[in-house]
Amino acid sequence: MALADLHTKIDLQNSSQLSYVSTRLSYNHRISLRPLPQPHNSRICCSVTSKEVQAPVTVNTEEPKKKPDCYGIFCLTYDLMAGEETKSWKKLINIAISGAAGMISNHLLFKLASGEVFGPDQPIALKLLGSERSFEALEGVAMELEDSLFPLLREVSIGIDAYEVFQDADWALLIGAKPRGPGMERADLLDINGQIFAEQGKALNAVASRNVKVIVVGNPCNTNALICLKNAPDIPAKNFHALTRLDENRAKCQLALKAGVFYDKVSNVTIWGNHSTTQVPDFLNAKINGIPVKEVIKDTKWLEEEFTEMVQKRGGVLIKKWGRSSAASTAVSVVDAIRSLVTPTPEGDWISSGVYTAGNPYGIAEDIVFSMPCRSKGDGDYELVKDVIIDDYLRSRIKMTEAELLAEKRCVAHLTGEGIAVCDLPGDTMLPGEM
Ligand code: LMR
Repeated sequence: MALADLHTKIDLQNSSQLSYVSTRLSYNHRISLRPLPQPHNSRICCSVTSKEVQAPVTVNTEEPKKKPDCYGIFCLTYDLMAGEETKSWKKLINIAISGAAGMISNHLLFKLASGEVFGPDQPIALKLLGSERSFEALEGVAMELEDSLFPLLREVSIGIDAYEVFQDADWALLIGAKPRGPGMERADLLDINGQIFAEQGKALNAVASRNVKVIVVGNPCNTNALICLKNAPDIPAKNFHALTRLDENRAKCQLALKAGVFYDKVSNVTIWGNHSTTQVPDFLNAKINGIPVKEVIKDTKWLEEEFTEMVQKRGGVLIKKWGRSSAASTAVSVVDAIRSLVTPTPEGDWISSGVYTAGNPYGIAEDIVFSMPCRSKGDGDYELVKDVIIDDYLRSRIKMTEAELLAEKRCVAHLTGEGIAVCDLPGDTMLPGEM
């Protein structure tokens, strides 16, 4: 039965069951939400109806506190009588999201909960991490998730302590980061955000699933991902990604526009390097309708200059128009990135992701997080694509973005356990949004 046919109907006999008390333990800044004590005569009915109406099911609300961290309706232990549908569901997965009250998350969470990311047979638990300042907004997010009646969304919990929120996480989508403020040096930004990601790496190492897949979105995402993985030594470094899928999508769009084709005809696009203005969108290996881009778009000057710069600076142009950085397209690209790991990459194609460089076949410096072409079998893991061509133009550009990442790495040595930080960043290179 299609998901759209599935309706969840909740009959509350006593609305006070959806009231909460917030307990603030100021000594360690932890906040938890607990349901208020339930009146003895209260009863909640919860039923799922398909085209044929099924009998309502009595819900067991006797010990809702058995679920330690939960929000609202998701604190109830109940069993939807979806019969045929739920039997074929996979085991529930835990998805932790930082920056959960922000704009990107606001687009992303509802896509995750709808089933369009992990599939219509994959129930999920959302574990939302916010800050003390954003906590009320986080409650608002959780309320909207409640009100959306997503059948696959089985648990929602909210909190401000990464050690609680990341417990048993199968996926960690690390979105929250401070934007660079006026007058702030890039080195300061690396330090401030680096500390957040060092802490979150430690928390993942302590409490997440041993095979958690981590996608770092908060900028500067490559170096944040490096800091995070260095602070999580018990989790394979291969499991950490810095999001460059948005850059790949942007590159595909511009190539399609120039060639006058729809963007589904563009494939094999690699973004090399850093998610910054030094990134290298690779038109040498990219294809349009299966034909090398350079045979379709013969204007090499456009490819080397305009196209490259357009992709590198797209985020900044967008900030000027919007007055804030991209949120919806970033969320879509997170969805694309996850889908590309949980479904097999189409034969002959690949995807871009910022991944750990140890053992890479392109001669890129070891021990940084660098965007490279990857393929997935659909099991959440990936392998690097080996048969890409690197010409002199590409090599020289790759060297520049590599130099920037090595400088960023030196600048956060105090956060990766590698000694004293030395910040000799080349020029003052920028995030895409910092022109
Ligand atoms: C983007 O690429 O749109 C963002 O990373 C821009 C930014 O600097 O936040």
